[in-house]
Amino acid sequence: MIEQLEELRSKALADLGQVDDAKRLEDWRVTYLGKRSALNQALRGLATLDASDRRVVGQIGNDVKRLLEAEFVARQSQIDRKTREFELVRERLDVTLPGRPLPVGQVHPITKVVGEIVEAFHGLGYDIVEGPEVETDKYNFALLNIPAEHPARDRWDTFYVKTDGVPIGQHLLRTHTSPMQVRVMERSRPPIRVVVPGRCYRYEATDATHESEFTQIEGLAVDEHLTFADLKGTLTAFAHAVFGAERRTRFRVDFFPFVEPGAEMAIDCHVCHGAGCRLCKHTGWLEIMGAGMVHPRVLEGVGYDSSTYTGFAFGMGAERIAMLKYGIDDIRTFYANDLRFLRQFR
Ligand code: PHE
Repeated sequence: MIEQLEELRSKALADLGQVDDAKRLEDWRVTYLGKRSALNQALRGLATLDASDRRVVGQIGNDVKRLLEAEFVARQSQIDRKTREFELVRERLDVTLPGRPLPVGQVHPITKVVGEIVEAFHGLGYDIVEGPEVETDKYNFALLNIPAEHPARDRWDTFYVKTDGVPIGQHLLRTHTSPMQVRVMERSRPPIRVVVPGRCYRYEATDATHESEFTQIEGLAVDEHLTFADLKGTLTAFAHAVFGAERRTRFRVDFFPFVEPGAEMAIDCHVCHGAGCRLCKHTGWLEIMGAGMVHPRVLEGVGYDSSTYTGFAFGMGAERIAMLKYGIDDIRTFYANDLRFLRQFR
């Protein structure tokens, strides 16, 4: 009998541990504390026992009953509290309210255009590399055939950087991505085909077509037997990819110290198709980049034999390409952070 009661107690307590809502709690109460519960029946059966047994068993039976009743009450208040908390939350939570939209970002128009340009060259087998924005005189100028005091330096308005222990004038913010021509040639051997996107800096008086911070994309190909025809073919393929397959191209002589011959490349205006309009300033042509055959002195400067190797290089401004492509007439809009402007380039 005593054993039975103890078994009953542990079973009841174990079952109660599983109870987590009011309905199951009521079922539990009926099973273990109800009129027809095993416990109640046992207690009623006490009458058949003799006096001394009745006292001992009765005592234990009542203890079990009291324990189960106390546990029942404790569980009940626990479940009540949980239900109330849940209802409070439900009152605060209006599930019919539409969700707040998460603002979705987008890439900056210049990042987008750089991606398109670089992709066009990637399709032609070019690697993409990047280089330092703080350069040395040696890479930005000297090894590009622009010696100190040479008047060609006037073409680039330079921000110099002060570095402890380095004479003023040695460190600067790169004025173009061309120093990467030299860095790439130094660390690899032909055949070379790379494009280099990156930020450049010039000490400019800012206006609609000049910013002191801008983006260039440099290109370099070095190999045996490369000629100006390769330059023209490559850049024409690029113009077709970015400005449309029907574009015509024009190459005219220009001067850059690190190329010989040097050229300026133009495409026929994609707005008026050469007839003349505001975008092309009524010339029918849009100049899009500088280019040329790598100067033998630049090749020799990095230890290449210029009678074996030839190459071509080009450099363009991403902002200018974007302005021409999208008909934007002020370069400053790119960096004014006006979302009404930036959101137009999805
Ligand atoms: N680095 C030149 C500039 O900034 C552009 C250029 C690059 C010209 C490569 C020729 C070859 O104006």
